[in-house]
Amino acid sequence: MDLNARIYVAGHRGLAGSALLRRLESQGYRDLLTRTHAELELTDQSAVRKFFEREKPEYVFIAAAKVGGILANNDYPAEFIQSNLAVQTHVIHESWRSGVKRLLFLGSSCIYPRDCPQPIKEDYLLTGPLELTNRAYAIAKIAGVEMCRSYNRQYGTRFLAAMPTNLYGPGDNYDLAASHVLPALVRKMHEAKAGGLAKVSVWGTGKPRREFLCSDDMADACVMLMNLPDAAFDKVLHGPNEFPLINIGCGEDQTIAELARTVASVVGFRGALEFDTSKPDGTPRKFLDAGRLRALGWSPRVGLAEGIAAAYRDFLAREGARKDFNETTETRT
Ligand SMILES: NC(=O)c1ccc[n+]([C@@H]2O[C@H](COP(=O)([O-])OP(=O)(O)OC[C@H]3O[C@@H](n4cnc5c(N)ncnc54)[C@H](OP(=O)(O)O)[C@@H]3O)[C@@H](O)[C@H]2O)c1
Repeated sequence: MDLNARIYVAGHRGLAGSALLRRLESQGYRDLLTRTHAELELTDQSAVRKFFEREKPEYVFIAAAKVGGILANNDYPAEFIQSNLAVQTHVIHESWRSGVKRLLFLGSSCIYPRDCPQPIKEDYLLTGPLELTNRAYAIAKIAGVEMCRSYNRQYGTRFLAAMPTNLYGPGDNYDLAASHVLPALVRKMHEAKAGGLAKVSVWGTGKPRREFLCSDDMADACVMLMNLPDAAFDKVLHGPNEFPLINIGCGEDQTIAELARTVASVVGFRGALEFDTSKPDGTPRKFLDAGRLRALGWSPRVGLAEGIAAAYRDFLAREGARKDFNETTETRT
């Protein structure tokens, strides 16, 4: 992508989209197109069409999606499937109509079968049943991957689907009713520390294994992919009958219990962890095989404790409590 290229980041105020924007800005891209949700409703096809006709982006990153943790996915499956199908359909279709050069569609590792072999290779897509708690979301995302494949095959577009592992970082969602496990743990530990509580309840058995990638590393990988020379990019897209799909992972996973201990240490919570086994565990292990990405020479830069400390600083800044962090935690991390 030329530094003057017109690049649209859909969902630029979200966790992934804001990291993409930071990355593009830091690399010197000058013509970045953004619209807030209030300015452009991506489920509104005619609004999306008008936007593409008027703005004519050359490159598109789709980081706009209705996203949530187990609870939200489980409780609102109709909203998750409807909204995500609409957003991605409109953006992918209008990208084709307006001649976008390359598009990167973000999905997530929940598209893979619940019980597939680990680490999860891209080829395992559609080889078995999905995890039930987020099946509606996963099926919407799988439809997006198939849309990319179909448009590439029929229209010769260069649309790539990238599946990052669990992300965390600045701008994450810390609302306990909608958040993912890592930001939920940050908030719970922070509140327990501030309230002088003796224990924190962690959902499930603590045994499922998960992988966590800093959103800035994810953005770095996405921008690297979009900048590949044509031949290398086309190799990542694969042939017409394969999915144009690439995993973005960090190559390490840990149990939720281990993660909780790391978060407790970063936040400075010294009480006990109590595992609430009445709550669902979700998929036993989700560990992406990021071999294809590594083969392109990419590797993550941000370690987990370092990344959580940065995310916690962002959380505190937003909570107006940075002073407390500096005094009690910074020296340890
Ligand atoms: N978070 C993770 O751990 C993770 C992991 C792997 C992959 N991903 C993928 O990354 C993508 C983005 O996730 P995220 O965590 O960054 O989500 P997020 O923080 O919730 O951000 C999503 C963004 O999309 C916007 N948006 C949602 N619906 C929209 C609509 N109908 N019209 C216009 N804008 C809309 C949201 O705006 P409002 O907030 O104003 O609605 C928000 O700015 C998703 O595809 C997700 O699967 C995320």
